[in-house]
Amino acid sequence: MATRGWRPVAAAAIAAARPGGGGPGRGPGAGPGSGAAPEPVPEPATPATAALYVHWPYCRKRCSYCNFNKYVVPTVDEAAVRACLVQEARTLLHLSQVQSVTSVFFGGGTPSLASPRTIAAVLEAVAGAAHLPMGAEVTLEANPSSTSPARLAGFREAGINRLSIGVQSLDDAELRLLGREHTAAEARGAVEAARGLFPGRTSIDLLFGLPRQSQDAWARGLAAALGLCDDHISLYQLTLERGTALAAQVWGGTLPTPPQDLLADMYQTARAMLVAAGFRHYEVSNFARKGALSTHNLSYWRAEQYIGVGPGAHGRFVPRGEGGCSREARVQTLEPDAWMREVRSHGHGTRRRVVLSPLEQLEELLALGLRTDEGVTHERWGHFSPQLSLRAVFGEPGEAQDLQQQGWLLLDGGGLRCSARGLALLDSLLPALLCQLQRRWAPPAAPGRAAAPGGGAPRRSPTGDRAGGEAAGVVSGGCGE
Ligand SMILES: *[C@@H]1O[C@H](CO)[C@@H](O)[C@H](O)[C@H]1NC(C)=O
Ligand code: SF4
Repeated sequence: MATRGWRPVAAAAIAAARPGGGGPGRGPGAGPGSGAAPEPVPEPATPATAALYVHWPYCRKRCSYCNFNKYVVPTVDEAAVRACLVQEARTLLHLSQVQSVTSVFFGGGTPSLASPRTIAAVLEAVAGAAHLPMGAEVTLEANPSSTSPARLAGFREAGINRLSIGVQSLDDAELRLLGREHTAAEARGAVEAARGLFPGRTSIDLLFGLPRQSQDAWARGLAAALGLCDDHISLYQLTLERGTALAAQVWGGTLPTPPQDLLADMYQTARAMLVAAGFRHYEVSNFARKGALSTHNLSYWRAEQYIGVGPGAHGRFVPRGEGGCSREARVQTLEPDAWMREVRSHGHGTRRRVVLSPLEQLEELLALGLRTDEGVTHERWGHFSPQLSLRAVFGEPGEAQDLQQQGWLLLDGGGLRCSARGLALLDSLLPALLCQLQRRWAPPAAPGRAAAPGGGAPRRSPTGDRAGGEAAGVVSGGCGE
């Protein structure tokens, strides 16, 4: 559905902070022989749980700003895709030895174009291969143009109990600029129908920072959305991605670039309006009231295990079924036909697997945990780093203390987290914190080895999509000495 994912931001920050190019396993102190680093952490033996993500790669039309892993094809052999999703889900659940699946998320692409039958088949496979508790959150991303009340009822019948609707805007001119298929009236209709069927569990996505959008227009749009919405809203700043029609128009001079300070004001305005309407700003881009937080996404931010099924899906889990004992980052093959061939011949289409070093796991925990208002708790940190406590890394004079004094960050009995002000600036706080972590984890080596080559700003990968990858596409900046 393609609003900006959480993954590339964290990956870029991690890679930027890591001297020497930032590939998994290539950071200093990551490999064997780095001496000072504590021993790898074996995962506890029980209980094995994971969240499960399922990627539906197809869309009917290309939106002007989207560079996600999605395909616009004349016809989809849905029975074939369904069979492969089912098979891959079974294989990966077996490989992970996960006993209980805590949540399922159908994303895309446009998964609301899949038939309820496909959703039901995947959920049956999950429930057959592991326990899927009653009431576990099962979300479907939906486009307003493929969510008639009858379809929505079919999805509910199939086991969906939460909807995330890609409204993006309630202004027809903005929707046209974005190249969306739906009108504002259709978006309203979809949200109303969804709230009827999934009361309290209908989320909407909104975009801000469109070229020529004024602060007033954004505030009016958000007020309209507040009159329509349920208890969860995701806000994303529009980003210009290489290879998209919108970026070509802006970079070609046909449309203006929104100024940075306007974007910051828009975010602050939105935060204030949402907080006044009773929403908790529980993650950089996410707001919920009445406890309607997304448990699926929380499991990413808490660095819990997750399994990614479908073309280009990402996962993080321990392959216990193979006797593995360390967490791996996995990416499935991007292109749907190639992915299907692999699933048919090997049971899964995993293209890349990388064992994450203990330092890399902590970097992810930090980059993702700090996105939430709960931050990184001592307990969660201790799970990944039993020897070196959160206080040992961030409680001593250094970057974290400076940021605390400036009011961006807090370290206390609850753990390490951003202040409300700090959350808006996380991307600029993170590099310093990652550097402090790296230094404390592996004290500087002899002069000459510690020098970081290169410099300069992190760059997005040319593919830039969710599978664009942890380190592959990002050029490192490095920790300054
Ligand atoms: C939540 O997770 C889904 C699945 O990975 C992703 O598509 C979506 O963008 C995430 N939402 C937020 C608000 O981060
Ligand atoms: S619906 Fe539009 S934004 Fe969503 S994945 Fe498809 S092309 Fe991208």
